[in-house]
Amino acid sequence: MFSNLKNQPVDKIMQVMAKFRADPRPNKIDLGVGVYKNALGVTPVMRAIKQAEHKLWEEQETKAYVGLVGDPAYSDAMIKLVLGDAVAREKIGAAATPGGTGAVRQAFEMIKMATPEARVFVSNPTWPNHISILDYVGLECVQYRYFDAETRSVDFGGMMADLDGLRAGDIVLLHGCCHNPTGANLTLEQFGAVIEVMNAKGAIPMVDIAYQGFGDGLEEDAAATRLVASSVPECLIAASCSKNFGIYRERTGLLMCVSQDAAKTPLTQENLAFLNRQNYSFPPDHGARLVSMILNDDALKAEWMSELEEVRLGMLGLREQLAGELARLTNSDRFNFLREHRGMFSLLGTGPDMVELMREKNGIYMIPDSRMNIAGLNKETVPLLAKAIVEAGI
Ligand code: LMR
Repeated sequence: MFSNLKNQPVDKIMQVMAKFRADPRPNKIDLGVGVYKNALGVTPVMRAIKQAEHKLWEEQETKAYVGLVGDPAYSDAMIKLVLGDAVAREKIGAAATPGGTGAVRQAFEMIKMATPEARVFVSNPTWPNHISILDYVGLECVQYRYFDAETRSVDFGGMMADLDGLRAGDIVLLHGCCHNPTGANLTLEQFGAVIEVMNAKGAIPMVDIAYQGFGDGLEEDAAATRLVASSVPECLIAASCSKNFGIYRERTGLLMCVSQDAAKTPLTQENLAFLNRQNYSFPPDHGARLVSMILNDDALKAEWMSELEEVRLGMLGLREQLAGELARLTNSDRFNFLREHRGMFSLLGTGPDMVELMREKNGIYMIPDSRMNIAGLNKETVPLLAKAIVEAGI
């Protein structure tokens, strides 16, 4: 049997992670996988998470199963965090999932069950695993133009022209904030125009929101998702707690099915439970419980929000420093896009050969498409990166 297996395509992000680990150079710089790191290069357990874990250890008396869609208190807290009061609770079916990736996978499976002929429109580029999972699940994927390689901002004209090809029932995958991999984001007005075209065509949005709080702030980063959820008949939302709660390995995500027709909620809820049961039965609870403990406790929530804000401002400071350093070295403003981009990533906009050159020569690790994790930098390494970029002639 095993000899029938084929070799699988390599996930570029995992490959960069492995290469970085194997590199013995002490001054290597990791701008690869999307994991936040502080100035010391550490991915800390957030203060509020530590406190919640301590409390949980003291108070939790059982590890028995919770429920197929997870703890309702977690769903309620996350729905409030992501959607605020944009949509009434009874219009939302929700299930805890193993991480944001679990939510994305379950969403694709739900699309496949409901409308197997639907095409899923994704931005070019998008998180590579979107395309890989779509292919695995057996859904047709169509790319829409998104990134203008010249300006390193959104090619909105191209995007709208490509969305004109939508058919009724197609899905449009949007990044709620902090676009991965580009860092270039639609304005709220542009989201409004995208909503109009989706509604006119009868297409259904799916929002992937994995970096809420990493861009302009918790509320600001949720604004586009809220606008979508309140302006369309139906949508799917995949949310992740990996980054904003720093609980990557706990695998904590949520899939939401929003329908303006609240009578559909029991059906979406039942299907979410079914999909969980088929794929892994009960979703992980530890991370989800910590998240709901934090979001339901004023003091813990305030502590979490203040640390998240430190993280966000730290990344903005690094963006500012890098753009400034590059402006100084090149005597131009062509790297100003680094200031405009939001979230953990920026797509530098160069080819894999230049990325490889910087890896070999400078020990700087980016994804081959030139995605850089800004949080992998610190005040000392920013000038080294700027120099390497200029020396590579980018
Ligand atoms: C990334 O884009 O680097 C992260 O979302 C981690 C992953 O799973 O790819």
